[in-house]
Amino acid sequence: MAACVGMCRLQMKGAERIVKLGQKSDLTARRILTRSTFATKAQTVKNTPQAVVEFSTKDSISALKANCTIPSVQHEAAVPFKSRLLSLKWAGQGSQSNSSKTLEFQKHSPISVNELTRHLCKQESIDQQIQCLTDHYQLTEENISLRFLVCSLLRDIAAAYFPECIIRPFGSTVNNFGKLGCDLDMFLDLDGISGLNQNKGSGLFLEYQVKQGTSVRTITQSVLSVIGECVDQFGPGCVGVQKILNARCPLVRFAHQPSGFQCDLTANNRVAMKSSELLFVYGKLDARVRHLVFAIRCWARVHSITSSIPGAWITNFSLTVLVLFFLQRRTQPMLPTMDQLRDLADPSDQCIIEGNDCTIVSDLSKIKLQTLNTDTLEKLLQEFFEFYGNFSFSSTSINIRKGKEQNKPETTPLHIQNPFETSLNISKNVNATQVERFVALCRESAWLLEQKEVLKRSAGHSADNIPHWGLAALLLPSVAQSAGVKGRRKKRHHLASDRIKTLLESLKLSSGGAANSHH
Ligand code: GTP
Ligand code: MG
Repeated sequence: MAACVGMCRLQMKGAERIVKLGQKSDLTARRILTRSTFATKAQTVKNTPQAVVEFSTKDSISALKANCTIPSVQHEAAVPFKSRLLSLKWAGQGSQSNSSKTLEFQKHSPISVNELTRHLCKQESIDQQIQCLTDHYQLTEENISLRFLVCSLLRDIAAAYFPECIIRPFGSTVNNFGKLGCDLDMFLDLDGISGLNQNKGSGLFLEYQVKQGTSVRTITQSVLSVIGECVDQFGPGCVGVQKILNARCPLVRFAHQPSGFQCDLTANNRVAMKSSELLFVYGKLDARVRHLVFAIRCWARVHSITSSIPGAWITNFSLTVLVLFFLQRRTQPMLPTMDQLRDLADPSDQCIIEGNDCTIVSDLSKIKLQTLNTDTLEKLLQEFFEFYGNFSFSSTSINIRKGKEQNKPETTPLHIQNPFETSLNISKNVNATQVERFVALCRESAWLLEQKEVLKRSAGHSADNIPHWGLAALLLPSVAQSAGVKGRRKKRHHLASDRIKTLLESLKLSSGGAANSHH
């Protein structure tokens, strides 16, 4: 990852100009990271397209500042905290606007499901469809750079209190399963401040004076409360700050307007960092893991199995663990268990967090890839639905540490053992209705993938009028769900099969337009 050494937000024309100039001068702008229509009070022209430009060196920023006019009129009532995100307006006249070709911009939000399914329908196989979905949804390198930039901007604020702190991204920003538009999970790392115990053998002991708190949790809450207040009062572009300090994992939530990211800032959350590393490792072992996770996450979101609102829903994290477990349980396992990952670890990999052994191997070359498993993505997708459509959720716990089903230690509707804090359940929030909906949707999708009309793309349609097939058919509104999960079971299944028949009829009629109108 390239270090974000300097950034500048500027009007599009100016951005293009600066990047072009950079090719010849010391204003070495590397690339444009984002484009938005965000406008601040400082801008005279509202909704002018804006860009965030990344520069190669700090000197480029100094050179830029030396070359620019800094307005003499100060804004009234501005908080005297200067962000490193500078706004630059191009005051030059005309010639650059329609000169050479426009620079390329990366998209920072995902395409709509409608647009996605149009792309999917044009593919030749379900395997290609699944890869196509990942290609459209995954985070771009520019988007990840922008996320690191936002972390560093936030660090500038937190550093007012804790000069040695680091703000690290975790979750889907770094675990390789991030979808464009996903939230930015950040972790305020204060460990550098507490200092490590180093015995220098001199017989002298130095102790810093610190304030004692009643518990680690209360200290985390007060640190986040103060930083949250600071972000709210002084953070340029930070809006809608909510301090959610009584949650199991206290956090500060806010929107960072210049980047468009929804941010969650936590502290003292090392296990979550380690969980992100674990997911990253599993995703790296076999390309099929990422593809399958992207497809299942998208399928779950479309059918409201997951939600952006916290509640009794299955989370993306739990869903990903379900996929990993399924891949461990193949006749030819595709993924090692966590115990195997721990056993392969070097002494330097040892990691104990709050008494939990979180050790996993870091040298991935030590993991013998499960090359015996040659399942196609289509087969994996189909069997994922069959596996969970028939899974005994009522009595069984999912355990990726052992890679085996275990007896449930408690009576929650869904039990997925926390990978590192093994006495906890990561899906404790999920209620019985949500598990039923998940199972019903898995069954329906497994059934659909057995139908030849769904399995193969039908021939003889123009590229824009191909009926929904394969993965695209699975993303159509659900039959089981429309029938309502609260209704009597028999009635629901009856209705479900009627609706599936209707869906198949529409596929056979292959109008394409009828299916499209669902979205
Ligand atoms: P998105 O939905 O795309 O944001 O996925 P995400 O993986 O970033 O999930 P989320 O933002 O909900 O959580 C961020 C990270 O926190 C996850 O990747 C996990 O590492 C961790 N995490 C989330 N939920 C839990 C949980 O219930 N238990 C534990 N131990 N960690 C969790
Ligand atoms: Mg997240």
